[in-house]
Amino acid sequence: SFTPNAFVEDCVKELQEKVGNDKVVLGLSGGVDSTVAAVLLNKAIGKNLYCIFVNNGLLRKNEFENVLNQYKGMGLNVKGVDASERFLSALDGVEEPEAKRKAIGRVFIEVFDDEAHQIEDVKWLAQGTIYPDVIESVSVKGPSATIKSHHNVGGLPDYMKLQIVEPLRMLFKDEVRRVGKTLGIDAELLGRHPFPGPGLSIRILGAITPEKVRILQDVDAVFINGLKEHGLYDKVWQAGAILLPVNSVGVMGDERTYEKVVALRAVESTDGMTADWVHLPYDFLMKISNEIINKVKGVNRVVYDISSKPPATIEWE
Ligand code: XMP
Repeated sequence: SFTPNAFVEDCVKELQEKVGNDKVVLGLSGGVDSTVAAVLLNKAIGKNLYCIFVNNGLLRKNEFENVLNQYKGMGLNVKGVDASERFLSALDGVEEPEAKRKAIGRVFIEVFDDEAHQIEDVKWLAQGTIYPDVIESVSVKGPSATIKSHHNVGGLPDYMKLQIVEPLRMLFKDEVRRVGKTLGIDAELLGRHPFPGPGLSIRILGAITPEKVRILQDVDAVFINGLKEHGLYDKVWQAGAILLPVNSVGVMGDERTYEKVVALRAVESTDGMTADWVHLPYDFLMKISNEIINKVKGVNRVVYDISSKPPATIEWE
């Protein structure tokens, strides 16, 4: 059976033998896999690990600042790069889901390549690839796959010519979490819900504007904080809010309003391939709905998604 302590010990030794005194660059996403990979490498080679955490402007509310501080608190050699405007301008007027994914993948590669060039004499690219990524199940849509699918487009970015090191490539997700625990990574970070690489862009149906990002971040924060406060967060595999491209009529005092509709989604799943919607308590839904409509300017209606996968997908785009 798998023993995280032995894995960490062996892995650190192997990493030290493999990369020696070379410099390694790694992209942190805020997710479990890249974080565990970074902490392992940090243990093995310390300051020769250069982590890059990119803000694509489509993360959850305050996520970039919070997670960057968390990374620094863990002693990682990390640079936060706020490229929000670059991503948002590449997405300007883009409506189609796959076109959004492509635009984000392309800009990510450009930003990461610029940053990797600033590290003198870097030899290795580390990735948090895990076993299911290798066998290409659900994580085929993950960040490493984004990079893979761009392999053949207009030649490789320079950082993709680096030698690859993937310390987690034989592990399943639950093993990665156990390794993370052994490494002393915060339980809250290890228990985070999955979050898609293209972020909120695929939860804003249709064209993206900074105002829509702001609205969705606020709605999402009310929902996610509410789940945590009511002890529901850990009972749900993934949750989030979707900003619909429709306005609906409402009333506020004696005024008629004509504002946005948001959908809430919470699912149970083991691997994301199939999923059931979660029967969140009505009282909770009522409270969250009121809080969203009262607090978030521009939203006057909240609906709950009661579709399972298949045939619906978890994301709406
Ligand atoms: P779907 O919507 O296909 O989602 O049921 C299954 C899981 O994959 C995530 N997802 C993505 N992750 N890049 C990612 O890194 C993507 O483009 C992407 N699209 C969906 C989704 O959040 C869910 O966990």
